[in-house]
Amino acid sequence: MTTIATDAELCQRWKHEPAPLLPLLHAFHDRDHYISDTAIREMAAALSIPVAELFGTVSFYHHLSGQQSGQQSGQQSGQPGPKVCDGPVCSLRGASRLITDLAGKGAGATMPCAGRCDEPVPVFMDGRILVGARANELEDRPSPLPVANPGQFEECVFAGIREPGRARMDGYRGSGGYEALERALGHMSPDQVIEEIADSGLAGRGGAGFPTGQKWRAVAEAAGEPKTIVCNADEGEPGCFKDRAVLEHDPHAVIEGMILAAYAGGATRGFIYLRYEYPAALDIIQNAISEAQQAGLLGDHILGSGLCFHLYVRRGAGAYICGEEGSLLNSLEGKHPFPRNRPPFPVTHGFEDLPTIVNNVETLVSCPQILRHGAQWYRSLGLGEHAGTKVISLSGDIQRPGNYEVPMGLPLSTLLKEWAGGPPPGRTVQAVTMAGLSGGFLAGQDLEVTLDEPDIRSKGSFLGAGGIMVFDDSRDMLKVAHGAMAFFADESCGKCFPCRIGTQRLTERLADGGAHGLDADSWTREVKDLGRTMMATSACGLGTAAPNITRSLMKYFPHQIHPA
Ligand SMILES: Cc1cc2nc3c(=O)[nH]c(=O)nc-3n(C[C@H](O)[C@H](O)[C@H](O)COP(=O)(O)O)c2cc1C
Ligand code: SF4
Repeated sequence: MTTIATDAELCQRWKHEPAPLLPLLHAFHDRDHYISDTAIREMAAALSIPVAELFGTVSFYHHLSGQQSGQQSGQQSGQPGPKVCDGPVCSLRGASRLITDLAGKGAGATMPCAGRCDEPVPVFMDGRILVGARANELEDRPSPLPVANPGQFEECVFAGIREPGRARMDGYRGSGGYEALERALGHMSPDQVIEEIADSGLAGRGGAGFPTGQKWRAVAEAAGEPKTIVCNADEGEPGCFKDRAVLEHDPHAVIEGMILAAYAGGATRGFIYLRYEYPAALDIIQNAISEAQQAGLLGDHILGSGLCFHLYVRRGAGAYICGEEGSLLNSLEGKHPFPRNRPPFPVTHGFEDLPTIVNNVETLVSCPQILRHGAQWYRSLGLGEHAGTKVISLSGDIQRPGNYEVPMGLPLSTLLKEWAGGPPPGRTVQAVTMAGLSGGFLAGQDLEVTLDEPDIRSKGSFLGAGGIMVFDDSRDMLKVAHGAMAFFADESCGKCFPCRIGTQRLTERLADGGAHGLDADSWTREVKDLGRTMMATSACGLGTAAPNITRSLMKYFPHQIHPA
């Protein structure tokens, strides 16, 4: 007979672990299917967090319920009812039909983009993500492998991902895995590792594009110990699903990238902050960590060297803003996950106010390949003067959606038409989004852009984490923009006024056909004014990026906002 852990036992189990609040919250939620007031008081006492603060933090996370499920959805089992993704692509693919299908099972709740835009609608149910267009088609299946390019372009991020057994230690080592680490520990100083990464031109792939070598050097040179590496696997941007593919199919590459970063930066502890909606990736990465520990690749004196590095997984609880690095660090520390004011930056004042490297999954997995083949090899993968590659998560009205690794500088039209088969037969591409939703839309002549930051920025947008959603000529772009702004309004953390109120006001102005009781001139003036204020005064990238939706809607589709 299994005994159920008491509140005190759960607290005792976690209170001495690093970053204990998230796993403790999940332990309570797994046991009770909600977080009771008593549980909050127990945790607050065990972790010395003010009770009022912990109440606020718990209610902030979408997937933590403060009520027993029976009370909120008529469920008798205690399990929460199914949640259906109603992200921008899933709402085109019949999310509402699936909600109706699942009504008898207590569905009604939706969740923001669950990062499976290359498949039919995902549903979170009984702790798993199932995918299918209808209720009777739902299945639990592995994420698709990345799409192979037509052949002439070498890959970096996906170089080994399709090798058989790659997710296990044998398969990974059998296809060159951990060679870069052996070489670095055996023959290179931390400074030489940093030099190689800096020379490659690799820049952050999580959205901000900060040069990776420079970040590693800043941490290596910063005072204060212990230092920390955080792998940002929160991937909450709608239309982005590249990190999920890497985590599920190539978890050892993430671990190897983190150990290399630890060696370079002088870190002794690391966290993978994994988005809640990736339960399959959680099992896979935990298994890979156990394998790496058994092989002497994690822990004390890695491969007989002086390097000691301990790695932990921390599972988020559903909040897009936790992908922002300051918010993520607060979440790890058990604080309310507001973004932090900057400066100081995480490289000097990160986890527990100590030097910390925060890197995206794609950034980290590029590093072992760069160290194996050299900085010049990586640079040469890009077209023209552009260095390296970028993974694009392509979805929406396109014949072959999926993850594509493209050379930097590839024309967008080549990706859409030649690699991905173009829009559905008889349709044309009306618009694409950039950086998931954060870059707004590109349309018309601007679809002739090349996939690199300078060219996309010259059109007023940015590449960011590389999510591109395609909308064909049958789509109502005002409706798409309304859904996008509603997402930002829901996910705004509320810390600063311009974003908290601005995203709400813009959502209202995009609702119900857009007019909002205003004539075209007043509408445009108001929306521009709101956008300008948000861009100038919001405290983090959510608030500064959200107006890209309205700015680009006005630029490309004025006739859809104010029909003649
Ligand atoms: C609202 C918001 C959400 C973000 N979400 C993510 C995310 O899910 N994953 C990620 O790696 N970076 C995300 N970022 C960027 C991070 O703050 C940070 O720049 C990044 O993790 C650094 O890693 P990199 O240098 O390897 O890109 C987000 C930024 C903002 C403003
Ligand atoms: S800009 Fe928005 S998401 Fe960012 S801190 Fe301000 S309120 Fe929070």
